[in-house]
Amino acid sequence: MQVKRVPTQPIDGQKPGTSGLRKKTRVFMQPGYLENFVQSIWDGIGGIAGQTLVVGGDGRFFNDRAIQTILKMAAASGAARVIVGQGGLLSTPAASNLIRVRGADGGVILSASHNPGGPDEDFGIKYNMSNGGPATETVTGAIHAATTAIAEYAIADAPDADLSTLGESRLGALVVEIVDPVADYAVAMENLFDFKAIRSLLQSGFQLRFDAMHAVTGPYATEILERRLGAAPGSVVNGTPSPDFGGGHPDPNPVWAKDLMDAMYGAGAPDFGAASDGDGDRNMIVGRGCYVTPSDSLAVLAANAHLAPGYAAGLKGVARSMPTSCAVDRVAEARGLPCFATPTGWKFFGNLLDAGMATLCGEESAGTGSDHVREKDGLWAVLLWLNILAVKRQSVAEVMAEHWAEFGRTYYSRHDYEAIDSALANRLMDDLRAALPGLPGRAAGALTVESAEDFAYTDPVDGSVSTKQGVQIRFVGGARLVLRLSGTGTEGATLRVYLERFDGAEFGLDPQVALAPVIAATEALAGITSRTGKTAPDVIT
Ligand code: G1P
Ligand code: ZN
Repeated sequence: MQVKRVPTQPIDGQKPGTSGLRKKTRVFMQPGYLENFVQSIWDGIGGIAGQTLVVGGDGRFFNDRAIQTILKMAAASGAARVIVGQGGLLSTPAASNLIRVRGADGGVILSASHNPGGPDEDFGIKYNMSNGGPATETVTGAIHAATTAIAEYAIADAPDADLSTLGESRLGALVVEIVDPVADYAVAMENLFDFKAIRSLLQSGFQLRFDAMHAVTGPYATEILERRLGAAPGSVVNGTPSPDFGGGHPDPNPVWAKDLMDAMYGAGAPDFGAASDGDGDRNMIVGRGCYVTPSDSLAVLAANAHLAPGYAAGLKGVARSMPTSCAVDRVAEARGLPCFATPTGWKFFGNLLDAGMATLCGEESAGTGSDHVREKDGLWAVLLWLNILAVKRQSVAEVMAEHWAEFGRTYYSRHDYEAIDSALANRLMDDLRAALPGLPGRAAGALTVESAEDFAYTDPVDGSVSTKQGVQIRFVGGARLVLRLSGTGTEGATLRVYLERFDGAEFGLDPQVALAPVIAATEALAGITSRTGKTAPDVIT
């Protein structure tokens, strides 16, 4: 095997503080671009000689080509073994699981999550560490530093590997091992959940619909829900991964999973509906005529996880991202559980999970997970819900009604303003930040500001500090408003506005109606409409 050393230049790569690199697919397809970033990963982590890595992705356009490049670069840099999901497929949680069960040194995951795929859409790559989780800030910082200093990359001059046949082959000294992407993950799920109880629920006439959105969870859901748990054939829809996700937007929320919403709110709706995103780490839960917000889902799972065998001993603690609603805080308080609020992004949960300080965690953006892996896990959340329903023998609507009756309801919504001019968006946030000290006591519409801060987080495990993680404004009476700029958008800036209001008595309002005072206060404080000219959010979830 011959190794080519190709001179190269630093790339406009990863933003510091983000886990991985996400760009338009054509950017990645430029000669040397992907190679530059992969070499920067190897350099940033101190080399991969003798290591075992896991590699896979969500099957989007360029997934297979990228894997061939990564294999040749792993061979050139002396890796011992690369474990690849058959066909290049691995859901993000399955990759995390595989890194852990195989004791790998790390992994490379190819995905742009819920963003569309295709030659004119998005692609992404990220490095996960030996705990199965996204690289820490220190490591992403080192990788970023490597992208700015890189002068050459090394790649084996070798034929493509066969990704379709299970078993081992060699690229020079590197062992390429192709594995069934589902097998180990399915075993992990069987170890956590009461498959017998779920099977008997499904045999009782309980109907489910899982929308894989043409993305990577199709094979996982078909194997686990239909084959192992006995859901009727056809319960998994859009179950074949396609490079452009069927031309869709594989984001499991009421906007992009509209077909599922229509089915769940229409005549003859099944009992339970769920969807997952491009790489299988996000989830959406919807009962018959009853959509469950991700924040409420986290709270319900925290309150009921003990009904599943894997969590029968109870939870060590719970964690949510700061913008996620405080619904889970109320469960934690009632059950005497530690509760953590972290900055947005799954990587902040890693230390809490590793240290045994939290068992469940979640984000308002449809990510929920536990200490079984170090990524959020879409199908896991679906199975935990099914396990809870199998034990309680209640409908989703009944579970929600009972939950609100016990803990009260936290009305919640996120308003996204997309593709705003970046300079304008930064100015809006800067002006708001500058105004924060003067806000407490001030009126905003019908509400009065109680406290206002620019959220900063000190990691309780390693003491690292993350500042400027979003503006958090609390109002007298328990409402809350959070504003932050997205770190994952690929066009201009996306302003995310998170709105919530607690109600201990009235549970049946439309969230947008219940939140009207907070929405009005937002305009009074941030002037989104007056500054951007947008009279309404682009996406409401
Ligand atoms: C979004 C979500 C965040 C999630 C991230 C990666 O990030 O809001 O919760 O961790 O995607 O899936 P954002 O675009 O808001 O920075
Ligand atoms: Zn995802």
